[in-house]
Amino acid sequence: MILVTGAHGQLSRAIVESLTAANVPVIGGTRNPTEWSSERRVDFDDPGTLDFTGVDTLVLVSAGYAEDDVVIARHDHAVAAAERDGVQHIVYTSLATDGDHLGFALAHRWTERRIRNSPLRWTILRNGIYAELLGALMAPTGDVVTAPLGTGAVAVVARADLAEAASVVASNPKPHAGQVYDLVGSQAITAQDVAQHAGLDYQPETLNARRGALSAGGLLPFQPSMLLSIYSSVANDFLARTTNDLETLIARSPMDPTLVAGAAIQH
Ligand SMILES: NC(=O)c1ccc[n+]([C@@H]2O[C@H](COP(=O)([O-])OP(=O)(O)OC[C@H]3O[C@@H](n4cnc5c(N)ncnc54)[C@H](OP(=O)(O)O)[C@@H]3O)[C@@H](O)[C@H]2O)c1
Repeated sequence: MILVTGAHGQLSRAIVESLTAANVPVIGGTRNPTEWSSERRVDFDDPGTLDFTGVDTLVLVSAGYAEDDVVIARHDHAVAAAERDGVQHIVYTSLATDGDHLGFALAHRWTERRIRNSPLRWTILRNGIYAELLGALMAPTGDVVTAPLGTGAVAVVARADLAEAASVVASNPKPHAGQVYDLVGSQAITAQDVAQHAGLDYQPETLNARRGALSAGGLLPFQPSMLLSIYSSVANDFLARTTNDLETLIARSPMDPTLVAGAAIQH
């Protein structure tokens, strides 16, 4: 049996849908299971809820959006429970190889190391930045997008493609044991490309200006730095490298990132 954690999150939901569409039995692990579903309660912050008995393949979707110590403890609890409960194979959704400058990279690399050092079989899916996230970082004022993305390019990917890749691996994990896939796009796009597609103008701004706006925006203390690390990595072309790993796994071309990012711009 396959269990996908974070089942109510966007990526996990898409993984469950992809497996279900392929007639592969799957259950969702979530903090808030719905009564009438086959979901199981899984809250990494509450190790007492972690029961992976009967699970052969655990799709461990990262549970980000917190400080490193919190995320690391969550993932440690999940891997320890998998070891204890006899899980055969962990598929972990990590971060693109070139993402080490991002503010949330350390917790991903810690988790990769934790999994590699466990006796379980594993596959690491190093997911690229979502195209939907790029669009969300480009909210316009009127007809103008202002963002500190410079002229940098980024090999973003649609969540649906990443979900399909996870589904392909989870449904037949053995051939993927010990593999690290770098699931970035097969083309890199710029903020200018996305804005133009959406019929908007794009004006680069400084990181300092964006930090000021974010700091006034009621975010949690760690969030401005994490978001700025995305802008800065893109602006300086650290996330521009492309690979063919994604299209090899899903056996088709990835979705057009400009269309996906453009559709995600919140007007
Ligand atoms: N590649 C990228 O561009 C990118 C961008 C942002 C985030 N990420 C990472 O990718 C993950 C999935 O992305 P997404 O877009 O699907 O995020 P999302 O829609 O915000 O979903 C995140 C899910 O994480 C689960 N979660 C949170 N705290 C948890 C806990 N204590 N124990 C167990 N599960 C917990 C929750 O699932 P339930 O509600 O079902 O409990 C939540 O819905 C994120 O969590 C983050 O680590 C990647």
